[in-house]
Amino acid sequence: MWEVVKAAGTLDLNSSYLYLLLARDFADTCVVAEHEGRVVGFVTGYRPPQRPEVVFLWQVGIRPEMQGHGLGKRLVTAFLRQPGADRASILETTVTPSNEASRALFRAIARELDTECRVEPCFRSDDFPDSGHEDEELFVIGPYRPSALNRLAN
Ligand SMILES: CC(C)(COP(=O)(O)OP(=O)(O)OC[C@H]1O[C@@H](n2cnc3c(N)ncnc32)[C@H](O)[C@@H]1OP(=O)(O)O)[C@@H](O)C(=O)NCCC(=O)NCCS
Repeated sequence: MWEVVKAAGTLDLNSSYLYLLLARDFADTCVVAEHEGRVVGFVTGYRPPQRPEVVFLWQVGIRPEMQGHGLGKRLVTAFLRQPGADRASILETTVTPSNEASRALFRAIARELDTECRVEPCFRSDDFPDSGHEDEELFVIGPYRPSALNRLAN
Protein backbone atom coordinates (compact mmCIF):
# COMPACT_ATOMS: atom_id res chain seq x y z
CA MET A 1 0.00 0.00 0.00
CA TRP A 2 2.89 2.33 0.86
CA GLU A 3 4.45 1.60 -2.56
CA VAL A 4 1.17 2.28 -4.35
CA VAL A 5 0.75 5.61 -2.56
CA LYS A 6 4.24 6.61 -3.65
CA ALA A 7 3.46 5.61 -7.25
CA ALA A 8 0.00 7.23 -7.32
CA GLY A 9 1.54 10.59 -6.48
CA THR A 10 -1.54 12.55 -5.40
CA LEU A 11 -2.09 10.83 -2.03
CA ASP A 12 -0.56 11.78 1.32
CA LEU A 13 2.26 9.32 1.99
CA ASN A 14 2.00 8.13 5.58
CA SER A 15 4.76 6.19 7.30
CA SER A 16 5.29 2.59 6.22
CA TYR A 17 4.66 1.65 9.87
CA LEU A 18 1.15 3.13 9.62
CA TYR A 19 0.31 0.83 6.68
CA LEU A 20 1.64 -2.17 8.62
CA LEU A 21 -0.66 -1.29 11.52
CA LEU A 22 -3.63 -0.95 9.16
CA ALA A 23 -2.87 -4.37 7.67
CA ARG A 24 -2.48 -5.91 11.12
CA ASP A 25 -5.35 -4.35 13.04
CA PHE A 26 -7.79 -2.88 10.50
CA ALA A 27 -7.71 -5.57 7.81
CA ASP A 28 -11.49 -5.97 7.90
CA THR A 29 -11.88 -2.38 6.66
CA CYS A 30 -9.06 -2.53 4.11
CA VAL A 31 -8.78 -4.23 0.71
CA VAL A 32 -6.02 -4.66 -1.84
CA ALA A 33 -6.09 -5.60 -5.53
CA GLU A 34 -3.31 -7.85 -6.79
CA HIS A 35 -2.16 -8.33 -10.36
CA GLU A 36 0.54 -10.84 -11.27
CA GLY A 37 1.58 -11.14 -7.66
CA ARG A 38 1.89 -7.49 -6.72
CA VAL A 39 -0.43 -5.01 -5.09
CA VAL A 40 -1.77 -2.60 -7.72
CA GLY A 41 -4.49 -0.87 -5.72
CA PHE A 42 -5.90 -0.57 -2.23
CA VAL A 43 -8.54 1.01 0.00
CA THR A 44 -8.04 1.75 3.69
CA GLY A 45 -10.72 2.79 6.14
CA TYR A 46 -12.24 2.39 9.58
CA ARG A 47 -15.51 2.63 11.52
CA PRO A 48 -15.73 5.93 13.43
CA PRO A 49 -16.28 4.67 17.01
CA GLN A 50 -19.01 7.21 17.87
CA ARG A 51 -20.98 6.76 14.62
CA PRO A 52 -21.68 3.08 13.99
CA GLU A 53 -23.77 3.78 10.87
CA VAL A 54 -20.73 5.22 9.10
CA VAL A 55 -17.83 3.51 7.34
CA PHE A 56 -15.05 5.98 6.63
CA LEU A 57 -12.82 5.48 3.59
CA TRP A 58 -9.40 6.93 4.32
CA GLN A 59 -7.36 6.34 1.16
CA VAL A 60 -7.96 4.75 -2.21
CA GLY A 61 -5.11 4.42 -4.66
CA ILE A 62 -4.48 2.63 -7.94
CA ARG A 63 -1.15 2.32 -9.73
CA PRO A 64 -1.14 4.87 -12.59
CA GLU A 65 -1.01 2.27 -15.35
CA MET A 66 -4.16 0.61 -13.96
CA GLN A 67 -6.25 3.77 -13.50
CA GLY A 68 -9.37 4.48 -15.52
CA HIS A 69 -10.36 0.85 -16.07
CA GLY A 70 -12.94 0.40 -13.34
CA LEU A 71 -10.60 -0.89 -10.64
CA GLY A 72 -11.36 2.02 -8.29
CA LYS A 73 -15.07 1.20 -8.39
CA ARG A 74 -14.41 -2.49 -7.88
CA LEU A 75 -12.18 -1.79 -4.88
CA VAL A 76 -14.68 0.58 -3.21
CA THR A 77 -17.39 -2.03 -3.81
CA ALA A 78 -15.21 -4.72 -2.19
CA PHE A 79 -14.49 -2.34 0.69
CA LEU A 80 -18.24 -1.82 1.32
CA ARG A 81 -18.75 -5.61 1.31
CA GLN A 82 -15.98 -6.25 3.83
CA PRO A 83 -17.01 -7.63 7.25
CA GLY A 84 -15.81 -4.38 8.78
CA ALA A 85 -18.44 -2.42 6.83
CA ASP A 86 -21.25 -4.69 7.98
CA ARG A 87 -24.44 -2.78 8.94
CA ALA A 88 -22.99 0.55 7.82
CA SER A 89 -25.43 2.64 5.79
CA ILE A 90 -23.32 5.71 5.10
CA LEU A 91 -19.97 5.95 3.31
CA GLU A 92 -17.86 8.96 4.20
CA THR A 93 -14.61 10.12 2.69
CA THR A 94 -12.81 13.38 2.06
CA VAL A 95 -11.65 14.59 -1.34
CA THR A 96 -9.78 17.68 -2.49
CA PRO A 97 -11.56 20.05 -4.94
CA SER A 98 -8.98 19.42 -7.68
CA ASN A 99 -9.18 15.61 -7.64
CA GLU A 100 -11.57 15.07 -10.56
CA ALA A 101 -10.97 11.31 -10.78
CA SER A 102 -11.75 10.78 -7.11
CA ARG A 103 -14.82 13.01 -7.18
CA ALA A 104 -16.10 11.11 -10.24
CA LEU A 105 -15.41 7.81 -8.50
CA PHE A 106 -17.50 8.64 -5.42
CA ARG A 107 -20.31 10.19 -7.45
CA ALA A 108 -20.41 6.99 -9.52
CA ILE A 109 -20.58 4.90 -6.32
CA ALA A 110 -23.50 7.02 -5.02
CA ARG A 111 -25.31 6.66 -8.33
CA GLU A 112 -24.84 2.91 -8.35
CA LEU A 113 -25.98 2.63 -4.73
CA ASP A 114 -29.04 4.63 -5.78
CA THR A 115 -28.48 7.22 -3.07
CA GLU A 116 -27.33 10.81 -2.72
CA CYS A 117 -23.83 12.22 -2.41
CA ARG A 118 -23.63 15.34 -0.24
CA VAL A 119 -20.48 17.44 -0.28
CA GLU A 120 -19.73 19.52 2.82
CA PRO A 121 -16.78 21.53 4.07
CA CYS A 122 -14.47 19.49 6.31
CA PHE A 123 -10.78 20.30 6.80
CA ARG A 124 -9.61 23.66 5.50
CA SER A 125 -6.24 24.21 3.96
CA ASP A 126 -5.08 26.21 7.00
CA ASP A 127 -6.09 23.38 9.38
CA PHE A 128 -3.03 21.50 8.09
CA PRO A 129 0.25 22.30 9.82
CA ASP A 130 2.19 21.46 6.67
CA SER A 131 1.80 24.11 3.99
CA GLY A 132 0.46 23.49 0.52
CA HIS A 133 -2.37 21.13 1.49
CA GLU A 134 -5.66 21.72 -0.32
CA ASP A 135 -9.03 21.82 1.46
CA GLU A 136 -10.53 18.40 2.10
CA GLU A 137 -14.28 18.26 1.43
CA LEU A 138 -16.44 15.65 3.12
CA PHE A 139 -18.40 13.35 0.80
CA VAL A 140 -21.37 11.76 2.56
CA ILE A 141 -22.85 8.93 0.49
CA GLY A 142 -26.04 7.39 1.75
CA PRO A 143 -28.03 6.14 3.35
CA TYR A 144 -27.77 3.00 1.27
CA ARG A 145 -29.50 -0.31 1.79
CA PRO A 146 -27.56 -3.57 2.16
CA SER A 147 -29.47 -4.85 -0.87
CA ALA A 148 -27.99 -2.00 -2.93
CA LEU A 149 -24.55 -3.57 -2.43
CA ASN A 150 -25.75 -6.73 -4.16
CA ARG A 151 -26.62 -4.72 -7.26
CA LEU A 152 -23.07 -3.37 -7.64
CA ALA A 153 -20.87 -5.16 -10.15
CA ASN A 154 -18.06 -7.29 -8.74
C1 LIG B 1 -9.12 8.14 -7.87
C2 LIG B 1 -8.82 6.72 -8.33
C3 LIG B 1 -8.75 5.79 -7.12
C4 LIG B 1 -9.98 6.24 -9.25
O1 LIG B 1 -9.78 4.89 -9.59
P1 LIG B 1 -9.90 4.41 -11.11
O2 LIG B 1 -9.71 2.94 -11.15
O3 LIG B 1 -9.00 5.22 -11.94
O4 LIG B 1 -11.43 4.82 -11.42
P2 LIG B 1 -12.53 3.96 -12.21
O5 LIG B 1 -11.93 3.53 -13.53
O6 LIG B 1 -13.10 2.93 -11.32
O7 LIG B 1 -13.61 5.10 -12.53
C5 LIG B 1 -14.61 5.47 -11.57
C6 LIG B 1 -15.40 6.64 -12.13
O8 LIG B 1 -14.56 7.81 -12.18
C7 LIG B 1 -14.46 8.28 -13.53
N1 LIG B 1 -13.06 8.72 -13.71
C8 LIG B 1 -11.95 7.94 -13.56
N2 LIG B 1 -10.85 8.68 -13.79
C9 LIG B 1 -11.29 9.93 -14.09
C10 LIG B 1 -10.62 11.14 -14.41
N3 LIG B 1 -9.28 11.21 -14.47
N4 LIG B 1 -11.38 12.26 -14.64
C11 LIG B 1 -12.72 12.21 -14.57
N5 LIG B 1 -13.42 11.07 -14.26
C12 LIG B 1 -12.70 9.95 -14.03
C13 LIG B 1 -14.82 7.09 -14.40
O9 LIG B 1 -15.35 7.50 -15.66
C14 LIG B 1 -15.89 6.42 -13.55
O10 LIG B 1 -17.12 7.11 -13.63
P3 LIG B 1 -18.40 6.49 -14.38
O11 LIG B 1 -18.73 5.20 -13.69
O12 LIG B 1 -19.44 7.56 -14.18
O13 LIG B 1 -17.98 6.30 -15.81
C15 LIG B 1 -7.48 6.63 -9.13
O14 LIG B 1 -7.57 7.51 -10.24
C16 LIG B 1 -6.25 6.96 -8.31
O15 LIG B 1 -5.66 6.09 -7.70
N6 LIG B 1 -5.83 8.24 -8.30
C17 LIG B 1 -4.62 8.64 -7.57
C18 LIG B 1 -4.82 8.57 -6.07
C19 LIG B 1 -6.01 9.40 -5.61
O16 LIG B 1 -6.15 10.56 -6.00
N7 LIG B 1 -6.84 8.80 -4.75
C20 LIG B 1 -8.04 9.43 -4.22
C21 LIG B 1 -7.74 10.34 -3.07
S1 LIG B 1 -9.24 10.82 -2.28
